[in-house]
Amino acid sequence: MSWRGFSLLLLLTPLAEAAELRVIVRPLWRGEPLVMHDTRLVNAAGTRLSITRLSLLLSHAELQEPGGRWIGAKDWAEHLDAGKGRLEFRLNGVPPGSYTGFRFDLGLDEATDQRPVAQWPAGHPLNPEVNGMHWSWRGGFVFCALEGRYVLPNGELGGYSYHLAGQSCQGTVVVAVNLDLSQDATLVLNLHAERFFEAVHTIHIAEADSTHSADEDPLAGRLADNAVHLFGVEKVTREPPPAPVLNEGAELPDWFAAKIPAHFPKVRLPADNPPTLAGVALGRTLFHDTRLSVNNSQSCASCHSAAHALSDPRRFSIGAEGRTGQRQAMPLFNLAWKPAFFWDGRALSLREQVLMPIQDPDEMHETLPNAIGKIRDLAPDFEAAFGTPEISADRIAKALEQHLLSLFSGDSAMDRTVTDDKTLCEIEQRGFTLFFTESDPARGIRGADCFHCHGGAFFTNHQFLNNGLDADAALTDEGRAKVTGKAADRGKFMVPSLRNVALTAPYMHDGRFTTLEEVIEHYDHGVKPSATLDPNLAKHLRHGGLGLTVDEKAALVAFLKTLTDESFAMLDRSAR
Ligand code: HEC
Ligand code: HEC
Repeated sequence: MSWRGFSLLLLLTPLAEAAELRVIVRPLWRGEPLVMHDTRLVNAAGTRLSITRLSLLLSHAELQEPGGRWIGAKDWAEHLDAGKGRLEFRLNGVPPGSYTGFRFDLGLDEATDQRPVAQWPAGHPLNPEVNGMHWSWRGGFVFCALEGRYVLPNGELGGYSYHLAGQSCQGTVVVAVNLDLSQDATLVLNLHAERFFEAVHTIHIAEADSTHSADEDPLAGRLADNAVHLFGVEKVTREPPPAPVLNEGAELPDWFAAKIPAHFPKVRLPADNPPTLAGVALGRTLFHDTRLSVNNSQSCASCHSAAHALSDPRRFSIGAEGRTGQRQAMPLFNLAWKPAFFWDGRALSLREQVLMPIQDPDEMHETLPNAIGKIRDLAPDFEAAFGTPEISADRIAKALEQHLLSLFSGDSAMDRTVTDDKTLCEIEQRGFTLFFTESDPARGIRGADCFHCHGGAFFTNHQFLNNGLDADAALTDEGRAKVTGKAADRGKFMVPSLRNVALTAPYMHDGRFTTLEEVIEHYDHGVKPSATLDPNLAKHLRHGGLGLTVDEKAALVAFLKTLTDESFAMLDRSAR
């Protein structure tokens, strides 16, 4: 990190003398720690509400010298997310001295905002997989996302989603500080969340429950005015900051990097299982080996079939011994970016995930020692992959992990509009626009609002959300709450990627819809209210749903079909 205005001084001062400022952000509501999902907050307009998402992108941090001059770190950007507990950042290499002011921008300058997302390193605050704030296919970032539920006058729960993007809503946060940076220090900032609704303008949620900043919506301007007043200084301490934990991930070999579509965000792989050609090949062999099942009748590929982008066309898969599972089998591609696996995210790594189906009584139902005993003839392949012929559960898991990590899909008609300047046909283009536009009946704007959850390069935000399949009382699968035990996670499932969706029917965690048309009907008017329904869908309920026309529904389906990557399905079939 280099500091403007201090290049000369830095040349003369050894770097070790530079100070580090750690900044810790504490989200509050009227002075008390903000509890996410708690519907007992009351804003200045008297509305009862909750906050389910509070996420910000910051840039251009600067410190003010006593003489008044501001000095800053070039190219500095950070991401805060109250829901994920990402509430801390650092300024490194600060010239030692005392400072009287601290400021930063909410939002990004245009050049940074518009850079191709593939340029941000894995783990960088502006990598879309880190911040989840790059929803639209080609535009820039959303830099402020505030979402939640609120109580309607009739007592029901509505939803609001406030998003700021672009440069016209950007603002600068300035706080007075008394910082002695002759050595490292920690600055604790309070984030007064209630000020979103009242700092300058009073926001009445029931009158405007979503922003449309692309159209220079007045609500977006009022929220932006409020947002620059969110922060205040709590205290400065000398407590030494613990060293940041850096995980650079495995260095990607060239042959592996070449498989990754160039327009995808950068990826970080597990550092202790670097992919090798022999390892990936062994993983592929194991994926198709029926000896991993109790009666040698079933391989992974039995439920993850190539023609269906490695998903299962059956509503519920049938295991080696004829038992039926409870959930629909998921397609397998672009897994290297996923933060957790299965519909409820109960496996945190692929390595951990792959041993589960082998032992699951509803699936392959084999013990690991038996499976190892049966595949002794693969010892030379294990030697090629791992250096010695030993076969172990850990090596089976790592080889399968390498294979799964190497499955990339990014060559659909939609991708070719970016990579080859191809265009979509008229109806597909209309579906694209609907997909990426918010519905705003009050202003006559037609939109299907899919992009908040299915946006970005993967057509998913990789979050656990409730898309309104069941009302609270009708919930039969707790979803994410099974893993976390939290009521706020009831009925939430990982948002699936919509890539190859035309090949992956039936749909949803329980395969309840057989066609894309049925899925669109669900989002149009079938969304069920519940305590954990996502605000981005809840906000349509009081307007009676999306109210799409027959033509608009057909356009959305046509667009979803442009996400099919024929080469992915074919590639895997030919390599069997
Ligand atoms: C009997 C059918 C069946 C077999 C056999 C099977 N799977 Fe699956 N797979 C499923 C189902 C169903 C799910 C979703 C389960 C859930 O979410 O609870 C799934 C989910 C997954 C996922 C999670 C994907 C994601 O996006 O989170 C991975 C990875 C996976 N399977 C890999 C494998 C591997 C590797 C094997 C072989 C060792 C295998 N599966 C064998 C049915 C099967
Ligand atoms: C609030 C977030 C959210 C919004 C908005 C949203 N979805 Fe979804 N979508 C989800 C979640 C979560 C699931 C999985 C739910 C489950 O299985 O329980 C899903 C599942 C799907 C599936 C099934 C995919 C599969 O492989 O089973 C399709 C297709 C889909 N959505 C399309 C759309 C379309 C089209 C729109 C816009 C009309 C849309 N979604 C809007 C969150 C959302």
